[in-house]
Amino acid sequence: MENIIEVNNLTVIYKTGRNEKKAVDGLDFAVKKGEIFGFLGPNGAGKTTTIKAILGLLGAAGGNVSIFQKNPAIPASRKLVGYMPEIANYYWYLTPRELLFLFGGIFGITRKTLAGRTDELLKLVDLAEHKNALMKTFSKGMLQRVSFAQSLINDPELLVLDEPTTGLDPISKMNMRDTIVRLKNEGKTVFFSSHELSEVEIISDRVIILKDGKLLKEARPKEIMDEKGSHVTLEKYFFELVKK
Ligand SMILES: Nc1ncnc2c1ncn2[C@@H]1O[C@H](COP(=O)(O)OP(=O)(O)OP(=O)(O)O)[C@@H](O)[C@H]1O
Ligand SMILES: [Mg+2]
Repeated sequence: MENIIEVNNLTVIYKTGRNEKKAVDGLDFAVKKGEIFGFLGPNGAGKTTTIKAILGLLGAAGGNVSIFQKNPAIPASRKLVGYMPEIANYYWYLTPRELLFLFGGIFGITRKTLAGRTDELLKLVDLAEHKNALMKTFSKGMLQRVSFAQSLINDPELLVLDEPTTGLDPISKMNMRDTIVRLKNEGKTVFFSSHELSEVEIISDRVIILKDGKLLKEARPKEIMDEKGSHVTLEKYFFELVKK
């Protein structure tokens, strides 16, 4: 099947003054159309850095990234992607509705289409009642849900989510999970990073585990259980692997 994301020998180096940090080090993987792909690794492993490279937001020191077989930095590929950043830093003096209109406008979606879609999405993330409230009055979980709605405004073929469920209450987490699975069933592709291993285990078709910018393991959660026994959760497996 068609690869939606291809990462080949990716290396990313941050330079600060005289210091150099190799945040991603020769990483290889591919995400196929229709997959839910989980991206795991301890703090500082290089997940966000890899995600930014996939979105064309930062340059690689080596290797190559493509989405939809194209350079991720060109508008034609970006149009098909929805992105939920690790930290939602939005304009505090906007309402969620205004924010979605702003992002929709960037994608060139007409105001007429946006009116319906905005209502639909804010309902989906359970913010319909707050759609005209200033975001400066929102809790962390509410902002996180606005961010998820924002990532869906262009009805993307590929959804890239950087720790989407962080800070969400259990019901909101379940809702987000259900939405991700529904999108997959509609043929969309989802790539997401997470520290919530039990959740990753439930919904992911495949996972990769990163440490120090390098790939430790690529697997299907089910295969790990087949290989190690059903008592081995992804969480246990992750601990063993990362501890080494
Ligand atoms: N802008 C930056 N300048 C310099 N170093 C950076 C920068 N951003 C990240 N790093 C470093 O690159 C490495 C990878 O960071 P990254 O944010 O990609 O990790 P992560 O896997 O997303 O971690 P977390 O789980 O905490 O979100 C870390 O060592 C970090 O300190
Ligand atoms: Mg991160």
